[in-house]
Amino acid sequence: MTQLFSLDGKVALVTGASRGLGRAMALALAKCGAHVVINGRNEAGIAQTRDTLLKAGCKASGMAFDTTDIAKADAAIDRIEKELGHLDILVNNAGYGNAKTATEATNAEWDEIINVDLNACFRLAKRASVGMIKRGWGRIINISSINAHIAREANANYCAAKAGLEGMTRAMAVEWGAKGVTVNAIAPGYMMTPENMDTPLRADPEKREWFAQRTALKRWGQADELDGAVCFLAGNASAYVTGTTIIVDGGMSVKI
Ligand SMILES: NC(=O)c1ccc[n+]([C@@H]2O[C@H](COP(=O)([O-])OP(=O)(O)OC[C@H]3O[C@@H](n4cnc5c(N)ncnc54)[C@H](OP(=O)(O)O)[C@@H]3O)[C@@H](O)[C@H]2O)c1
Repeated sequence: MTQLFSLDGKVALVTGASRGLGRAMALALAKCGAHVVINGRNEAGIAQTRDTLLKAGCKASGMAFDTTDIAKADAAIDRIEKELGHLDILVNNAGYGNAKTATEATNAEWDEIINVDLNACFRLAKRASVGMIKRGWGRIINISSINAHIAREANANYCAAKAGLEGMTRAMAVEWGAKGVTVNAIAPGYMMTPENMDTPLRADPEKREWFAQRTALKRWGQADELDGAVCFLAGNASAYVTGTTIIVDGGMSVKI
């Protein structure tokens, strides 16, 4: 039974793991036995996550690069393949929204969000798939959002990028399934992370409570509440699951 969730001998890259949900998922995957490569742009945050994993007795290393920098992202994947021998699991987590309405967002602000939340994930998945396909085993896990399914007024670019990411997930799953690579997404609802795009929402007690009441569970998610979904999708337990999105939103999207 434990073999279903064991990641012993696997190497995982988690982008945007210098804090927040990425940090929590990195720790969860490492506790299942994977060597986790922690990415972000901020060296101090990467070091903090790496130290947390090492202190927990896990295998970890850090690699700072901007996921939107094509040359650096490609080089990072190649370096992991060379130095660690293989990259088996890619968690495309780095991303954010800018809370701009369609009316107020400039073209540049639209492009920035599409670039980080969609284009960068495409390029990383494409590059990582090469080694995975060669070895006949791989897991690509794209971190989407409940905003791919239901919208708020202030984030047309983010909704579009995350919906695109789920479309890309299905297409890559169909393309690479026969080659042993599964591609899935996780769509979190509103999660309590130390500081992120939703910090202003959470700082307002009325809004914080409104979002909690929108869920079936009547609360925000905790940062470590994607751990089960990511470990499931990364291991052999999900061998026959591909092209799907696991919604982890406390029931927000099924509630009227
Ligand atoms: N928290 C939520 O409620 C929620 C809900 C739905 C979906 N999500 C999705 O979950 C993911 C993580 O969200 P979060 O709340 O944990 O965000 P967060 O706390 O703001 O963390 C974002 C992470 O991404 C990194 N990052 C941002 N841009 C990057 C880039 N261009 N290259 C490399 N790293 C980059 C940041 O590190 P550096 O600053 O070091 O670069 C940081 O580690 C995002 O894709 C987000 O859209 C979050």
